[in-house]
Amino acid sequence: MLFQLSFPLSQEPGSVRFATLLPWLSFVFSRLLYLGSTLAESILVSRSLLPSFTSLRLFDILFARMKPSLIVHGGAWDIPDEAVEACHAGCRRALEAGWAILSRDGSALDAVEAAIIVLEDEPVFDAGYGSHLNLDGRVECDAIIMNGANLRAGAAAGLQRVKNPIRLARKILENCPHMMLVADGAERFATKHGLDLCDPEDLICEAEREAWRRCSQDKHAVAHHRGHEQDTVGAVALDREGRLFAGTSTGGTCCKLPGRVGDSPLIGCGCYADSEAGGVSCTGYGEAIMKVVMAKMAADFLRVSPSQHDCPAPQKPSASAKSSAPEKPRVSIHLGSDLESETHHTEHHPYGAPFEPCGPNFHAMLAARETVHLLAKRTHATGGLILLDREGNPGFAFNTPRMAYGYVDTDGTLMTWV
Ligand code: GLY
Repeated sequence: MLFQLSFPLSQEPGSVRFATLLPWLSFVFSRLLYLGSTLAESILVSRSLLPSFTSLRLFDILFARMKPSLIVHGGAWDIPDEAVEACHAGCRRALEAGWAILSRDGSALDAVEAAIIVLEDEPVFDAGYGSHLNLDGRVECDAIIMNGANLRAGAAAGLQRVKNPIRLARKILENCPHMMLVADGAERFATKHGLDLCDPEDLICEAEREAWRRCSQDKHAVAHHRGHEQDTVGAVALDREGRLFAGTSTGGTCCKLPGRVGDSPLIGCGCYADSEAGGVSCTGYGEAIMKVVMAKMAADFLRVSPSQHDCPAPQKPSASAKSSAPEKPRVSIHLGSDLESETHHTEHHPYGAPFEPCGPNFHAMLAARETVHLLAKRTHATGGLILLDREGNPGFAFNTPRMAYGYVDTDGTLMTWV
């Protein structure tokens, strides 16, 4: 990079105008500082002495770069106790894969793709390998990835021979004049752009084949499917350059009709990203999520000025006050009187860090909760979502018994919840 810049010397020998050199010197200085801060951080990390305020953060602040942020999910469903560990481990590996990219100044696009590939490869989740089977006993996958900067998405549906559907979604995002391809056309596009097609059998795990057999002999029942009907995986990332991407991938619902496409690959339904608002990935019953255009709804809640949703400023004591009871926060997002019973957002996380009331992600949490509240209110269905607001603050909500998800804190601490 340095060597491609033309050195701005004056024509007169020996005379160099300081003003002309200033941007150049500042560039060299910034790179040296970055190098020094990265080295210092490596030393601190290797000695396990990394403080929450690292030299790298100082660099970010000095040069107005974004804090990278990553949130992932492995679906909102009735996760049985015996699957909890696998869900934690899957989310953790996805966070590690994405964070390895973001923490080295990589792009949010790479991070979302890497995280979702891990989730697709983990058979406990309904995406890629281990997806639910359709009525014909075949896997049909859908995926989408969306760029918050230009609102462009790449989506694919009805895939039977693509091992990692999110890879194809990215190829479509980057190389296709259209934003969504399905079935055979999508698979032809995959081959043309360097993705190998797999044997459809390679996507089927034994547990799902067994569930499908039991449904075929009896009738479709949740009990045959490890207690769940649908779920999905997803990730949202913000990188240091401020690029925001969201992605979602799914095997859809179990015993679905061949050709059925749910919410996941549909822009605004299973996924949405807008750098002016935030990025969202949804999970749950697709036919209901489509009705409320759930991911876009969450992004619209994020778009509303945070100042309208902030905690109120502390009230000055009033001499005329008759009661010492604190005033209710003036939150203009409607929480709904029945929300607490509908939405399992506090049960496992009693507002522990990083999800503090009135903390930096208060607005993100309200947006997530309100969206799930409206899904339940308008469709009586279940689901959940993860999101990052435009600053990278995380939010999540679900009204299923459990959701598998994880987040990387700003100091690089990985956290997962089920
Ligand atoms: N949310 C996944 C599906 O319904 O297809």
